[in-house]
Amino acid sequence: MDVDVFTLFPGWFDWYRTQRHVANVLALGSTFECVDPRATTPLSGGAVDDTPFGGGAGMVLRVDVMEAALRARYGEDPVDVRERRRVVALTPAGRVLDDALASELAGEPAMTLLCGRYEGFDQRIVDHFCTDEVSIGRYVLAGGELAAMVVCDAVLRKLPGALGHADSAAEESFSPALDGMPEYPHYTRPAQWRDWGVPEILLSGHHEKIRAWRHEQSRRRA
Ligand code: 6GU
Repeated sequence: MDVDVFTLFPGWFDWYRTQRHVANVLALGSTFECVDPRATTPLSGGAVDDTPFGGGAGMVLRVDVMEAALRARYGEDPVDVRERRRVVALTPAGRVLDDALASELAGEPAMTLLCGRYEGFDQRIVDHFCTDEVSIGRYVLAGGELAAMVVCDAVLRKLPGALGHADSAAEESFSPALDGMPEYPHYTRPAQWRDWGVPEILLSGHHEKIRAWRHEQSRRRA
């Protein structure tokens, strides 16, 4: 998968790229690149935002600035770019990210994430350049960068080869394999610590009973 992140803070993603499951998919041919709209702004002094029409606090990312950045990156009118790839605006009011959306995005060959700052985007950016508006929860962050990292984390770990163990992403919380339920609890050695044991069934070696126990635990947590 080819991922482009449009951000005024590209340096924030340097560390992100070094995470093991991100590095794993990059080594297997995926790409993860940052584009700084300030580098292509048509405005003087590197300006990218402006005060909102109608008044109010904060600054709004300008549509002409995002158009210039998208056009420079893709070499065509940004209204056509969204025909070819998912273009996601990260906004607190968007569709809340869940496992189903992460799986949907993981099935795409290419994804562009637009990070807003300040009060967010001029709405024409969302309406004309984007395919999706995604939020990571009902609270407000200072900008879309952390949300973009969360979206990429949830999406990239689903790609083949991202995790060490092929099955790790299949039977996990909220996956279809668990009927969308949270995952069952895990235990490991030592079997006894202070006066805390582990469920006997897990030490029994009865795979069928263990499967049933885990399913029941998931159901109770749901
Ligand atoms: Cl995607 N952006 C911002 N700024 N705040 C958020 C968010 C996104 N999702 C939850 N809060």
